Amino acid sequence: MLLKRRRTRGVSYLSMLFWPAVDSKEGAPMVDLLVNGRRHTLDVRAEAKLLWVLREQLQLTGAKYGCGIAVCGACTVLVDGAPVRACVTEVGSVAGRSIRTVEGLGGDHPVQRAWISEEVPQCGFCQSGQVLATVALLEQNPRPGERQINAALRGHLCRCGTYSRIRRAVHRAMRLMRETPRAARG
Ligand code: FES
Ligand code: FES
Repeated sequence: MLLKRRRTRGVSYLSMLFWPAVDSKEGAPMVDLLVNGRRHTLDVRAEAKLLWVLREQLQLTGAKYGCGIAVCGACTVLVDGAPVRACVTEVGSVAGRSIRTVEGLGGDHPVQRAWISEEVPQCGFCQSGQVLATVALLEQNPRPGERQINAALRGHLCRCGTYSRIRRAVHRAMRLMRETPRAARG
């Protein structure tokens, strides 16, 4: 079947249909990325989108492809602690900067624990973006008001309508973040 996901030399057929290859042209400079504390030197074009480099080259598939035009938030990752939309971010623009994906939270981060306690996800597609936006918010402001929470999560769309559970999880995460020393947060 045409759209069946198969892999060839590290690049899926599906990715070749919908977005340009990330591999560099011969002789192009390598790109240095710092992802979840690990340094990677990659043979990719500087203008390749960060989302596909994370997913296709580094097999970090937590960030998802939703809209591809910076609208839905499914592809969100953190760059130097701030949320960015990886689907429109050129990998060359974040070379050498600290990139954090949901995998880098380690699974026991207070925000992840809050998400589990409140049983937030349904299909899960939007959730890594929602979680990372919340991590960025609470690391910058441990006691955000409703307005700040709205601003941080605006533009993170959930087709399953988990918004009320997300809101409860953000409040639980605020408490857990305060109880968890920074070094133990993942
Ligand atoms: S896939 Fe990037 S914002 Fe929707
Ligand atoms: S949990 Fe399904 S899109 Fe949000």
